[in-house]
Amino acid sequence: MASSFVIDVDYEQPVAEAGSACDTRHAWARVPPEPSPDERIALKERIRRLLRERNAVMVSHFYVHPDLQDLAEETGGIVSDSLEMARFGRDHAAQTLVVSGVRFMGETAKILSPEKRVLMPDLDANCSLDLGCPVDEFSAFCDQHPDRTVVVYANTSAAVKARADWLVTSSCALDVVSALHAQGRKILWGPDRHLGDYIQRQTGADMVSWNGVCIVHDEFKALELELLKKAHPAAKVLVHPESPADVIALADAVGSTSAILNAARRMDAKEFIVATDSGMLHKLRTLNPEKTFIEAPTAGNGGTCKSCAHCPWMAMNGLAELANALETGAGEIQVDPALGLQARVPIDRMLASTAGLKNGQAPGSLVAGIGAA
Ligand code: 13P
Ligand code: SF4
Repeated sequence: MASSFVIDVDYEQPVAEAGSACDTRHAWARVPPEPSPDERIALKERIRRLLRERNAVMVSHFYVHPDLQDLAEETGGIVSDSLEMARFGRDHAAQTLVVSGVRFMGETAKILSPEKRVLMPDLDANCSLDLGCPVDEFSAFCDQHPDRTVVVYANTSAAVKARADWLVTSSCALDVVSALHAQGRKILWGPDRHLGDYIQRQTGADMVSWNGVCIVHDEFKALELELLKKAHPAAKVLVHPESPADVIALADAVGSTSAILNAARRMDAKEFIVATDSGMLHKLRTLNPEKTFIEAPTAGNGGTCKSCAHCPWMAMNGLAELANALETGAGEIQVDPALGLQARVPIDRMLASTAGLKNGQAPGSLVAGIGAA
């Protein structure tokens, strides 16, 4: 088999107070080679056997390789957004969870199920939002605003979650902040500034925000999107709210990955322009074979890793790495038990308050478009 290749990734980190300039930091991602057709068949067979032998179940995100999505569903696991991945892992009887996604997803699974073994194909699969929000700096920011309720996005470390009052994913962020705003609470939000701005515009809540971005969604460009819309006038635009405000302004529907999937299924249109990670296209196309899905434009026309609309860390999940994790126990997530107990408080709050929100239903955070289609 060919060897992995390593790519450099730039991400932003606020340097002083949130709202001030960002420093550009460097990270890396190790992308495994595509297996040959024969290797793929053999690896899938090996994984099926190991899942049975190890009493394990696969929990995959919509952005990972189609093989890891299809195999998860075929073997009784799940492909979903980050909220439903957390719920599924907590509720499933299997003793081992194999989480294909990025590190915060594996950590959340471990925090919710400390008695289970949680494996990941590659423990170095990170996220620019998590990297760009170190706990010491974020805690200092919280300490400057003791009168505010701290609401953090799931794309954070266990330590940042432990500092929060509430955890949200993009499936429930609007609902949670709306409810807090209705109670008269002022919000400290972190780390995604685009998602925070979007929630602020929608709810009118009094919010101060950390200054992080997702390196994938931050690259979608409004000007080029307008041109693409002109070329496809009947197409509806589906946007993940980690995208910049001028991209969101062009959307027919805004929401989490599962909300985007749901909108594509419900809307009447035959063509859609999709502003989220390109890994999402597999599920969109499989479930809607009669519809056409076009990738929204980014700055680099696919020229750099950062602007190819595919998360380099999600790309670290491969069949061979997953089989190895199951075979050897490599890639086991560890979370300090005391920290895990603290981090669990805001996660449990989120899961309890969103208990009715099931993958496939219209989440309350999908704000536009479904009814108007
Ligand atoms: P969802 O919660 O919508 O699945 O998003 C997770 C993520 O990392 C998006 O970039
Ligand atoms: Fe993080 Fe963006 Fe990758 Fe999602 S797509 S895991 S937010 S870097």
